[in-house]
Amino acid sequence: MRRDALRIWPELRRRGFRNGVVYADPPYSKDHYSRYYHVLDTLVRYDYPQAIGKGRYRPDRFVTPFSLMTKVASSFDRLARGVASTGSALILSYPSNGLLAQHEDVDLAALLRRHFRTVTLAIQKPSVHSTLGARHGEHTREVEELIYVAHPAT
Ligand SMILES: C[S@@+](CC[C@H](N)C(=O)[O-])C[C@H]1O[C@@H](n2cnc3c(N)ncnc32)[C@H](O)[C@@H]1O
Repeated sequence: MRRDALRIWPELRRRGFRNGVVYADPPYSKDHYSRYYHVLDTLVRYDYPQAIGKGRYRPDRFVTPFSLMTKVASSFDRLARGVASTGSALILSYPSNGLLAQHEDVDLAALLRRHFRTVTLAIQKPSVHSTLGARHGEHTREVEELIYVAHPAT
C-alpha cells in the first residue's frame, strides 16, 4: 500500500484487516533514514522523481518522526495503538541503543503494555550495526537487538 505506518490503520480497518501479525522494524537513529532509504522508497514508488546531488536524493525527502527525539515516543505509541486497533499482534525489532532509549522516562515494554495484553521480550541478542558512515567516527557499533512480541490476548 506504500503508506505511512502511523496513518494507515483506519484504512486497514476499513479493508477488514483483523487479527493479523504486524512486523515493524522502525528507524532507530537520529540520522535521517531517507539519506539511505530514498533509493528503496523510489524503487517501491516507481515514480521517476528528479534526482538531486551526489546522493541522487528525491526532492521530497521524507523525515520520519521515529528519528526525531521530540516525536519518537509518540510515534511508538501511535504505531502500537494502530496495530492494537486491528486486534493484531505486533512483532517489533529495536536495538537497545535506539533513539527511544535516550528518553529515560520511556520503557518500550511498558509503552507496549498500554495497548496489548501480553508483551514478551522474545529475543535479546548481541549484534553489530553499521553506522552507515554518518557523522560518527566508528564504522560499526555493538548493540543488543531486541525483539518484542506484543499480543492482544493473554
Ligand atoms: C530500520 S529500517 C527497516 C529496514 C528493513 N527491515 C529492511 O531490512 O530493509 C526502517 C524503515 O522504516 C521506514 N519508515 C520510517 N518511518 C516510516 C513510517 N512512518 N511509515 C512507513 N515506513 C517508515 C524507513 O523508510 C525504512 O525503510
